Amino acid sequence: MALVNKFQRMSRTLLGVATHYSKCKNNAPLSSFQTIRQTSTTQPLCEKQEISITFVKANGEKINAKGKEGDSILDIVVNNEIDLDGYGACEGTLTCSTCHLIFPKEVYDTLPDKPTDEELDMLDLAYELTDTSRLGCQIIMTKALDGIEVRVPSTLNDARA
Ligand code: FES
Repeated sequence: MALVNKFQRMSRTLLGVATHYSKCKNNAPLSSFQTIRQTSTTQPLCEKQEISITFVKANGEKINAKGKEGDSILDIVVNNEIDLDGYGACEGTLTCSTCHLIFPKEVYDTLPDKPTDEELDMLDLAYELTDTSRLGCQIIMTKALDGIEVRVPSTLNDARA
């Protein structure tokens, strides 16, 4: 009987240890886990909304892509592996103008940030410049921009060449 009781105590101990480790991330102590649970909310604070954007190429082809709030349009092109020849050559360092996009007037007017002098200088080197042109690497997507369509010029100029 004593052997059975000892076995049951050992089983409970092992079960408790297994439960403890399965609840804790990265083997963090249980007290850390409990602290996290007490301060957590039902929705993680860092969760970003998914947004979509459509690129309209010069030949009329439409490419739909998804990204997250806070992504630049360049991020979305890269993350979706969209084939826009030469697009984003300087990787967003404002030295190429290959990320030139043309926005509908109503969208252009609602973009959260106005172009900086550096962006305007680069835009001056872009082909097919319009009054509603912007550089995609400088446009940060917000929920308000979800679902927009942007036009991709037929020729992208790499100002570094
Ligand atoms: S990616 Fe080069 S200026 Fe935007």
